[in-house]
Amino acid sequence: MAKNLKKSFLPLIKLEEIFFSYNERPILKGLNWELLEGEKVGLIGPNGSGKTTLLYIIMGLLKPQKGKIEILGKLREREKDFIEVRQKIGLLFQDSDSQLFCPTVKEDIAFGPLNLGKSRKEVLVLVEKTCEFLGIKHLIDRPIYKLSGGEKRLVALATVMAMEPICYLLDEPSNGLDEETKKRVIEFLKNQASTYLIVSHDKEFLKEVVNKIYFLKDGQIFLYQDFSQQG
Ligand SMILES: Nc1ncnc2c1ncn2[C@@H]1O[C@H](COP(=O)(O)OP(=O)(O)OP(=O)(O)O)[C@@H](O)[C@H]1O
Ligand SMILES: [Mg+2]
Repeated sequence: MAKNLKKSFLPLIKLEEIFFSYNERPILKGLNWELLEGEKVGLIGPNGSGKTTLLYIIMGLLKPQKGKIEILGKLREREKDFIEVRQKIGLLFQDSDSQLFCPTVKEDIAFGPLNLGKSRKEVLVLVEKTCEFLGIKHLIDRPIYKLSGGEKRLVALATVMAMEPICYLLDEPSNGLDEETKKRVIEFLKNQASTYLIVSHDKEFLKEVVNKIYFLKDGQIFLYQDFSQQG
């Protein structure tokens, strides 16, 4: 179980009565959920239940047909409302190829922080630090298309970490990682990330890094396990 670095009760993300369909096929059906600052939670659910869709909705990449999205205390409805959300909340895509679009590892990791207005010098330090932490310094000048699946996963994670988001939404972060690398990611989550939602089918991994697990089923979210309540 993960320790909470800080206890707070500010809702960072609040979803109310969210309805979402892809071409008339309902996926989310009046979903209610919130993530408080300092919470570390997991989300499980069958394939196709809508977990990835839910993350896209939080980031404003998909619009729900009905419902209310409040992030960082503000109602988020239009495209411009999500600019701040994407700067402060880091999404790790389920598919690494959706995350990586620059020619090299270094450029990809630098892209986000440069966009946030950080100086080249600052960004270079951040890129080095992130790669060092994830054990991928040797990949820094490599072209993305020559990376293995697991290497891509780590670089994708590095691009999100380098943004230093206040909250992480990680879609299957441990997918394709070897045991040693998984341990590094667990260390990072336990010690250097304070608020996150992790979508995963890897229950062993989840148990290490979250305090609560939610379950997405039939278009709604239920609390599945609360480790902080167990003695
Ligand atoms: N762009 C799309 N157009 C139509 N249907 C889609 C689209 N994207 C996803 N779907 C469908 O919506 C449902 C939910 O997809 P989603 O990717 O959110 O599931 P998931 O819970 O993340 O699944 P998994 O555990 O396999 O990653 C699936 O049945 C999927 O086929
Ligand atoms: Mg998914």
